[in-house]
Amino acid sequence: MVTREFGSSGLRVSALALGCWPIAGVGWTGVNEQDSLATIRQALDVGINFVDTAYMYGLGGESEILVGKAIAGRRAEVVLATKCGVHWDGGKAVRDSSSARIQEECEASLRRLNVDAIDLYQVHAPDPGTSFQETAQALERLLRQGKIRAIGVSNFDVAQMQEFSRHAPLHSLQPAYSMIRREIERDILPYCEEHRIGVCVYCPLERGLLTDGIRPGESYPAEDSRRQNSNFLGDSFARTRQMVMRLQSIARENGMTLAQLVLNWTVHQPGVTVAIVGATRPHQVLENAHALGRSLTADQMERIRKIVESR
Ligand SMILES: NC(=O)c1ccc[n+]([C@@H]2O[C@H](COP(=O)([O-])OP(=O)(O)OC[C@H]3O[C@@H](n4cnc5c(N)ncnc54)[C@H](OP(=O)(O)O)[C@@H]3O)[C@@H](O)[C@H]2O)c1
Repeated sequence: MVTREFGSSGLRVSALALGCWPIAGVGWTGVNEQDSLATIRQALDVGINFVDTAYMYGLGGESEILVGKAIAGRRAEVVLATKCGVHWDGGKAVRDSSSARIQEECEASLRRLNVDAIDLYQVHAPDPGTSFQETAQALERLLRQGKIRAIGVSNFDVAQMQEFSRHAPLHSLQPAYSMIRREIERDILPYCEEHRIGVCVYCPLERGLLTDGIRPGESYPAEDSRRQNSNFLGDSFARTRQMVMRLQSIARENGMTLAQLVLNWTVHQPGVTVAIVGATRPHQVLENAHALGRSLTADQMERIRKIVESR
């Protein structure tokens, strides 16, 4: 597995991380504890050392609990990332990055994960009700207490990162990025590169849409959130399907699956350090882990760029 320096954090991480949102089973269907634990352990077995979870993955921190169980006895093999600042309240996601809340959430995450320290602690999303100064100082206090080893934010824009980093070191950003969501290329990726902020992008496979298993929203069960997701419906889905069919022929030329081509492309985009990929079953992790085993030629990268830009 390819590994990389993660910005200025001092952490060395695999270029693919395992995303542990799907295993929480909220808005996702077909998950069970046995497969979820096997999926996390499979990731470690193939050299994926970076595991990303969050308090709000699951209504009661279920994803963190599963991660804690799966990594028991293997702590040294894992760069453990989780998030704070968004919680569930009566089925609604509420943003609260106040100082007291962050301290309390961190201590609860440490208990659920059953570890002494979190390697990367990320603010899940900006909280309009709390100043960035208060949030940043709360994270810096956790750093001084040794409860966390690096500080990250997620879903922040450049101005928000600038304000945050006036009050605490900022080691990483977790933004959305995929072949069909490339907005961060404009100013966020160049800013992070210039300031040595590690970038771990989420949803590179667009929740399974950019894989050989591409399916329309209507085909998912009623309780699966992909049924309502606009990327899986109507014109957007049709355009993605066209793009996918053209990409599949390049993948075949190279003996790759579509997911492997997409992940390979993603981690080779300028400014991207890591692609966080969700999975619910070990065989998906195995397939994805081999994405970086083959190279795409400069000519293939250029053809992919044209296909992606013409979607
Ligand atoms: N910071 C944030 O606000 C935020 C938001 C979203 C996600 N994230 C993080 O980023 C991670 C990745 O995003 P994501 O999990 O939403 O989406 P994703 O990585 O784009 O897609 C994951 C889903 O794609 C399917 N899949 C994976 N490998 C596959 C393969 N080889 N072949 C076919 N299908 C495959 C699986 O769906 P099935 O199992 O259903 O087949 C899997 O659950 C999350 O898990 C989470 O850690 C962060």
